[in-house]
Amino acid sequence: MKTLLLNSIKKAADLILKGEVVAIPTETVYGLAADALNKDAVKKIFKAKGRPNDNPLIVHIADFEEIYNFTENLPKEAEILAKKFWPGPLTIIIKKNNIIPDIVTAGLDSVAIRMPDLNITRDLIKLSGRALAAPSANLSGRPSPTTYKHVLNDLENKIPAILIGPDCTVGVESTVIDLTSDPVCLLRPGKITAEEISGIINKEIIIDKSVNNLISDLKDVKSPGVKYKHYSPETRVILVETDENKFAEFVNSKPECVAMGFDEDSRLIKNANFISYGSKNSQTQQLSKLFDSLRKIDSYNAKIAYVHIPANKKNLNLAVFNRLLRAAAFDLIKI
Ligand code: TXA
Ligand code: MG
Repeated sequence: MKTLLLNSIKKAADLILKGEVVAIPTETVYGLAADALNKDAVKKIFKAKGRPNDNPLIVHIADFEEIYNFTENLPKEAEILAKKFWPGPLTIIIKKNNIIPDIVTAGLDSVAIRMPDLNITRDLIKLSGRALAAPSANLSGRPSPTTYKHVLNDLENKIPAILIGPDCTVGVESTVIDLTSDPVCLLRPGKITAEEISGIINKEIIIDKSVNNLISDLKDVKSPGVKYKHYSPETRVILVETDENKFAEFVNSKPECVAMGFDEDSRLIKNANFISYGSKNSQTQQLSKLFDSLRKIDSYNAKIAYVHIPANKKNLNLAVFNRLLRAAAFDLIKI
């Protein structure tokens, strides 16, 4: 199948209504969308991505009221959070009703809902008149796509179309917050932090143990997506937790490797191929450059990529650290 590059929301909406999948831009990452209430269409998402079918999808809406189509009992925190953060990079998990097909939620009794903060995306939802089930538009396991070209690299000739939009401004996937558990639980860190959410709902939030812990240590995983090695280039990734000088000394002694670090590292690195993931002083930049930088690693055909993370984790965004840990399959050395 030849993948069409679309500039028209109308053509994308027509495909959605025909039960097809279309890759779509959002402010976080590109998604692979289908009509959330059409089982056969949703099946095509799992097939194109090679996604395990025990990993549920996020349902995207364009107006807050649509949320009542999918649940009988909306907690008041959902309203408060939506008022503050929607449209935006926050996904909330609530109890689902029977309208949502099991394939979307992987048989769970809850559903993940988000209203994306990009006009094109919400216009597509409105024009098609359909809520859109959409995971990130990468091949399962690869870094999420933040440009339409990343989507092409992974899914060309596997999907009928990509709706072209701007490069993603946020750059990592939405924060996922589970409102069905008590206390409320952060399942995936993103641009919106647990502290911000906790401040708005005036409640304590716990960080799910999967966020920072080894996958192999996890028995009962709440968010099935966290089980898998994820966000990985083909090249093996190893995280190096240390200061600038020691990182440079370490990678300079390994000329055949790729070094990924902050802008500030670059002047110290003499022998290795260097990729920056933003300034150490800008978490926003780190978020938006992370996946593109991970994808660049493979262009060097190196055996190993060493990624610098600061010794003081306070300077590292939790969402960035969480994605890097998975890209490295939890391989981390401290120097
Ligand atoms: O920013 C984003 O969230 C992007 C864009 C396209 O909106 N989407 C995205 O979807 O990242 P995906 O499928 O790659 O990640 C969804 C995550 C997975 O870790 C999945 O396990 C979790 O949300 N999830 C979905 N429904 C869930 C549920 N009912 N309970 C627990 N976790 C759920
Ligand atoms: Mg994903």
